[in-house]
Amino acid sequence: MTGVRPHSKEWYLRLSTLQQGYFYPWKSHLPPFNGEDVYIQMVHELLSREKDVLDAGCGHGELTLSLAERCRSILAYDRTPGYIELAEQARAAQGINNVRFVVWDSSEDVHGRGRLPAEEDSMDVLISRRGPINWLEDARRVGRPGAVLLQLNPMPLPPPVWNNELPEALRWSGPGEFSMRQSVTYALSLGGLEMDSCWTFEVPETFADPYELYVLFSWGHLPEEIPSYEEARPVFESIFERYGGPNGLKIDYGRLLWKAVVEK
Ligand SMILES: C[S@@+](CC[C@H](N)C(=O)[O-])C[C@H]1O[C@@H](n2cnc3c(N)ncnc32)[C@H](O)[C@@H]1O
Repeated sequence: MTGVRPHSKEWYLRLSTLQQGYFYPWKSHLPPFNGEDVYIQMVHELLSREKDVLDAGCGHGELTLSLAERCRSILAYDRTPGYIELAEQARAAQGINNVRFVVWDSSEDVHGRGRLPAEEDSMDVLISRRGPINWLEDARRVGRPGAVLLQLNPMPLPPPVWNNELPEALRWSGPGEFSMRQSVTYALSLGGLEMDSCWTFEVPETFADPYELYVLFSWGHLPEEIPSYEEARPVFESIFERYGGPNGLKIDYGRLLWKAVVEK
């Protein structure tokens, strides 16, 4: 088993050297209303040319930059330097001047001025697509009265029944002790905030081909840590044969979308 926990700091640092930016490298099908699409729709509805926006854990900034013309300004941060470098290059190439990207880690308040790289009462909308939740502790300080927080979080679901058939290095671990909703509620409470609304999405993600499923399960690993596709192929093909349907193999895909409002 690899010692690097998925989505840890080390994992993102390594992923930023394995692929150019943060994206899912496998091909699969997700039905509409899967959470990701609804999040973008809701963000669009919250934005206008008078709004100052904070984007927490922005990755390589693709979504951030797509929002630039809809608002007055965006301050976007991420702790993975390679992502901010890519984001800054894309910003300059697109000639966008109302977005600022910074390398910043919100897991601690290192300077004693707050976890977020923003001034008090400076933001109208605070968003995060699959970013961390540690920034919630500082969101009230940074948000103007009435500011809206909107975040989309992965919602881990139990692994597929065939998970234990996979070579050990490729297996998924199950959801942690607390649900994502409980973790978000707790992180908000640390910041003196409450969840206003939330929506959960559980939809099937369909893989047409055993290779694409291998790409998902091997994501973020170094090749030397895991069996190659040729080695793992018989297991993936057998899983497809026994658990797949006419369109391929489905696995559960979960998202939590939630909203909070800063009241001062
Ligand atoms: C799942 S990726 C999402 C990236 C981007 N928001 C997107 O939707 O493409 C999560 C991002 O959060 C960043 N991140 C995780 N913990 C962080 C922290 N404590 N401070 C800053 N960034 C963090 C990671 O570096 C990574 O780029």
